[in-house]
Amino acid sequence: MRRIARPNRLLPALAAMLLLGACQDDAPLFSAGAAGALSGRTDPDRGRRLIAEHGCTACHTVPGVPGPASRVGPPLGNMARQAYVAGLLPNTPDNLVRWLMDPPGINPKTAMPDTGLQRSGAEDIAAYLMHAGRGEGTP
Ligand code: HEC
Repeated sequence: MRRIARPNRLLPALAAMLLLGACQDDAPLFSAGAAGALSGRTDPDRGRRLIAEHGCTACHTVPGVPGPASRVGPPLGNMARQAYVAGLLPNTPDNLVRWLMDPPGINPKTAMPDTGLQRSGAEDIAAYLMHAGRGEGTP
């Protein structure tokens, strides 16, 4: 009996190893290469305008963008100092852009919808968010 039971007890460990393996398959998201800078032609002012136009403030409080001070999503005045984007992706400019372009693609359970941003818009917003809130009293 014990011999039959033992492999069953190993199954959770095997499943965990498989899951870890699956994470490693996503490695490009986390690799040093993914930490590359934005294209260099970003326009943070356009990013700020896009944040207003895309209705981000319906869910987020964003320094420098007037809105209803919503707390549906986290306030975005601290992006430059966070370790992770949405608690999942190491906080690099490229990962921030990935998140902005397709949140449900990164995390199917997230409450943040796809807001239809193209890469250039997402890069401009990321450029703005990486500097928003500095020196505005956020801890
Ligand atoms: C319907 C509400 C909603 C809208 C609209 C929305 N978001 Fe979000 N957003 C969220 C929620 C909820 C989270 C937290 C998601 C999670 O952790 O899974 C989030 C997370 C984020 C994050 C990661 C924050 C962090 O602390 O890591 C960023 C950046 C972000 N949103 C930017 C934007 C931008 C820019 C827009 C507009 C283009 C936008 N969001 C529109 C709800 C929204």
